[in-house]
Amino acid sequence: MIGRLRNEFHKLYSQFAKSDSYQAIKRVRLVRNAKINFGKILWKFAPYRYPLHGDVISIQLFKEIVEEFDIDTIVETGTFRGFTTELLAKMFPKIKIYTCEINGLNYLKAKKNLAKYKNVHLFKGTSPTFLADLLDNKKISNKTLFYLDAHWLDEWPLEEEIKIISTRLKNAIVVIDDFKVPGNNNFAFDKYGSKECALPMIIGNISSKNTYDLLFPSYGDEIFDINVSHPPLVGYVALFQNLNKNYTHFCNRVFVKKFYKKANIMKKRLT
Ligand SMILES: C[S@@+](CC[C@H](N)C(=O)[O-])C[C@H]1O[C@@H](n2cnc3c(N)ncnc32)[C@H](O)[C@@H]1O
Repeated sequence: MIGRLRNEFHKLYSQFAKSDSYQAIKRVRLVRNAKINFGKILWKFAPYRYPLHGDVISIQLFKEIVEEFDIDTIVETGTFRGFTTELLAKMFPKIKIYTCEINGLNYLKAKKNLAKYKNVHLFKGTSPTFLADLLDNKKISNKTLFYLDAHWLDEWPLEEEIKIISTRLKNAIVVIDDFKVPGNNNFAFDKYGSKECALPMIIGNISSKNTYDLLFPSYGDEIFDINVSHPPLVGYVALFQNLNKNYTHFCNRVFVKKFYKKANIMKKRLT
């Protein structure tokens, strides 16, 4: 019954959305702003309803990385209810996805939400142990993309996660969510007390034997369809460990040139 009503509503709404009067209304600045703000309020009450923060550019970045680096495994830390996991599972049905969640309720909800995806392997527990187990059991190939998103309130396993990846793997590609984009205020980032999810956290935890090339997002709200409510932009970084030549090749992609800024960390020089 509710489903039928919802369908009817969507049908009526899409007819209205195509009408001339709607096209005129949506050009009014006030209406546009109200829609954008509605997305921001929704975000406050239902965070992570939007996989990868509803950011079409970061979603495309995943696709570009998978294609360029022939990725066969994705490892996510911090499943929550499985919203991003589901997006990835649908986008890359042939790729194995390992994901882990520490919270019992989230784990159970994610288990239900992800049950139909045969390429998803969900674990319960803390992410550093999960990463170490995957490495011990040789589940991580050298074509793995890491998506580190297990930061939540006081829980902050990011430093441990980085240490494991940095010391136990030669090459790696890592996307860290909720990350501070230096010199760019368009992107929100996580901050707990005085601790920011930002470069110093990485620099303090990587091996000085490695080199790190980075990509930071460099765009603004214009990437969203102004007629659709959307959450605020959230920062992230893509980190390429000991992949200098492949990184240089990747940076020549039109998409990367258009939406990203290059940076690198040479720990020996910095410390
Ligand atoms: C930001 S949310 C993840 C959102 C999810 N990746 C998505 O995009 O839909 C962070 C999640 O990490 C979980 N978490 C926090 N600390 C963790 C840890 N040490 N190991 C695994 N999961 C953890 C939290 O319970 C929470 O569900």
